[in-house]
Amino acid sequence: MKDFITPDTGTQIGTLALQNPIMPASGTFSEDLADVFDLDVLGAHVLKTIMHGMRAGNPTPRVCDMPSGMMNAIGIPSKGIDDFRDRMLPYWAGYGAPLVVSISAHSMDEFVRLCEAVSLPGVAAIEANISCPNIEADGRAFAMRPDTTHTVIERLRGCTDLPLWAKLSPNTGEPAEVGRAAQDAGADALVVANTMLGMSIDVASRTPRLGNVMGGMSGPAIKPVALRMTYQCARACHIPVIGCGGISTLEDVLEFLIAGARAVQIGTATFQSPTIMARLVTQLRDWMAAQGVSSLGEIIGTLEIPQAADGVWA
Ligand SMILES: Cc1cc2nc3c(=O)[nH]c(=O)nc-3n(C[C@H](O)[C@H](O)[C@H](O)COP(=O)(O)O)c2cc1C
Repeated sequence: MKDFITPDTGTQIGTLALQNPIMPASGTFSEDLADVFDLDVLGAHVLKTIMHGMRAGNPTPRVCDMPSGMMNAIGIPSKGIDDFRDRMLPYWAGYGAPLVVSISAHSMDEFVRLCEAVSLPGVAAIEANISCPNIEADGRAFAMRPDTTHTVIERLRGCTDLPLWAKLSPNTGEPAEVGRAAQDAGADALVVANTMLGMSIDVASRTPRLGNVMGGMSGPAIKPVALRMTYQCARACHIPVIGCGGISTLEDVLEFLIAGARAVQIGTATFQSPTIMARLVTQLRDWMAAQGVSSLGEIIGTLEIPQAADGVWA
């Protein structure tokens, strides 16, 4: 009979030690969830992206369903930096889990100003949401290209001593190069990835289902894309990769860890089942105990590639 083990679910993201690899995806986590589970069971708390000033967000409708997921074009409504400093930070500082603050901006200078402003005691890491349109690059997201990714992450690196995570976009055709650019510019981790750009039309009215016409797809439909990108980035980079996209079951979590992720973020699944993250923490620990797996190191990056795989996929 196997010896009973208490598995160590801890994971290291750069200098940050997390008690387990389960954390929320930005924009899908709120104070209300404290009503349904103990938020301190999570590996970290990742907040909705904030921008420097007040912003109203996009026209409605801002969300719509699609098979195997949803689409959103929320547009980052933000109460700005003052609300973050005066209201949100004191609230979240009451928890033990490390606080990750997601920031975004439409220009390099605005990004830098915000990064400086959120580098406060009580913040454990900054997640740079570089999937937003960069006004200085014709509205193309920073994370679409290695050069714009390098420039913005280098600027952010220069203005904070906090761990800096770069959240990539699945809309780029060169994820490994973008990941490497973020790493070379000083990012401490990659979050892979944000929503995938999509569109939906109501045929009866011939109108777009989202007020913004296009929006970001999330949920199970994008999981294979996020998993593939996680694998590509983990192979190309030495900094930790945090997988994100369509994760809703323990099997999904394990797939991302095997592909090379050192932690995962859960987004859309929380809307369907608000306690899912707490259950995944328990399920992961129980699975590790049952399998005799003593630490996550025995799972992370253990994908076995069949000899016959030749890299041709079409
Ligand atoms: C309603 C909604 C709001 C989101 N808001 C943000 C946001 O503010 N910042 C961000 O970086 N990502 C945001 N995302 C993207 C998620 O963090 C995540 O990257 C994406 O949804 C893929 O994960 P999922 O399939 O588990 O939802 C949002 C997603 C949804 C569905």
